[in-house]
Amino acid sequence: MADIYLDNNATTMVAPEVVQEMLPFFSEQFGNPSSMHSFGDKVGRAMKQARIQVQKLLGAEHDSEIVFTSCGTESDSTAILSALKAYPDRDEIIITAVEHPAILTLCDYLEKNEDYVVHKLRVDKQGRLDLDEYQDLLCNKTAIVSVMWANNETGTLFPVETMAEMAHAKGVLFHTDAVQAVGKIPLDLKSTKIDMLSVSGHKLHAPKGVGVLYLRRGTRFRPLLRGGHQERGRRAGTENSASIVALGKAAEMALEHLQFENTQVKAMRDRLEQGLLAAIPNAFVTGDPTNRLPNTCNIAFEYIEGEAILLMLNKMGIAASSGSACTSGSLEPSHVMMAMGIPYTAAHGTIRFSFSRYNKPEEVDQVIAVVPKIIANLRKMSPYWGENGPVADPDKAFAPTYA
Ligand SMILES: Cc1ncc(COP(=O)(O)O)c(C=O)c1O
Repeated sequence: MADIYLDNNATTMVAPEVVQEMLPFFSEQFGNPSSMHSFGDKVGRAMKQARIQVQKLLGAEHDSEIVFTSCGTESDSTAILSALKAYPDRDEIIITAVEHPAILTLCDYLEKNEDYVVHKLRVDKQGRLDLDEYQDLLCNKTAIVSVMWANNETGTLFPVETMAEMAHAKGVLFHTDAVQAVGKIPLDLKSTKIDMLSVSGHKLHAPKGVGVLYLRRGTRFRPLLRGGHQERGRRAGTENSASIVALGKAAEMALEHLQFENTQVKAMRDRLEQGLLAAIPNAFVTGDPTNRLPNTCNIAFEYIEGEAILLMLNKMGIAASSGSACTSGSLEPSHVMMAMGIPYTAAHGTIRFSFSRYNKPEEVDQVIAVVPKIIANLRKMSPYWGENGPVADPDKAFAPTYA
């Protein structure tokens, strides 16, 4: 069996067409785009094209709203820190409890070390936000709201367009970390009130080390990196031109494949999910079952450890993930599962399968054939699983270790 890659929310394969597009920028197209000669000019023009390609994918009004950065994390940090500098009289930040560490860790730092007040919106059992709680928190002390468009672990989509309107009604800036949403669902930023949005190239078949901060025209902004005039002074540093050109091509291809993503890719995801749930008892989908990304499914297999499942899957040539790549390696259950109130017995056994357009329907059959056996074998070794299913009150046995 050839290896099966179902960890596309962690990172994606660089599309072969994207590799081809970027190669000349390592050799003959080596000019500095800021230079006043033909070497620089050619690269500058290629970067302009990439900016337009990204603009189209995002449905942005103008290509000048696209600022190239080094990654999603940089875009997230730039957005939040810019708002805090641009609105020095405001010291409150609103995020959600289920943001990626790119937002959460920064905000925890700001709260602990710089006296900002960070409000983390809670989610319900299906990962959904309470917009009344949000409305009550918005005020003239709020410097910025940052809410992810799609959750990286469950794929749950948040109503960011509505939330941006609510923020604007109170005169508050709105940023969204759309790292997981871009290229998977249609976006039309010009018809929204979103002020800033983060993109990461490596989640949409471009290389690692390139990202975008969408910055709506007229948004009050303070750069993170100061120096040369690159990116109209909004992000200093000689541009990573090869990766920027690659991201442009990847954006163009993502736009062409949006329909495919929401039909064929979604169909593979749905079939995997139904197949596994039908074959495995005490398993359930986490997050919002309807309002979510077409490529992501996160299943909790109760009474076993996600890491053990991953190791067995890996042995069988199947790559998936437990929690997010950034939080795995820690023994704590994922903060996303904890925020949804998923019990320990299930939170520890969650596995994320995330597809891309490069997956094949026959891979779904192979995974459906393998996973139920892995789960059954692991449960045989689990102290919380008996001959007839779960043993009494296993939650008590699990919880103290992690209290
Ligand atoms: C939702 C979300 N935000 C931000 C990031 C960070 O992006 P990057 O790896 O480009 O820094 C990730 C990556 O996993 C993500 O899933």
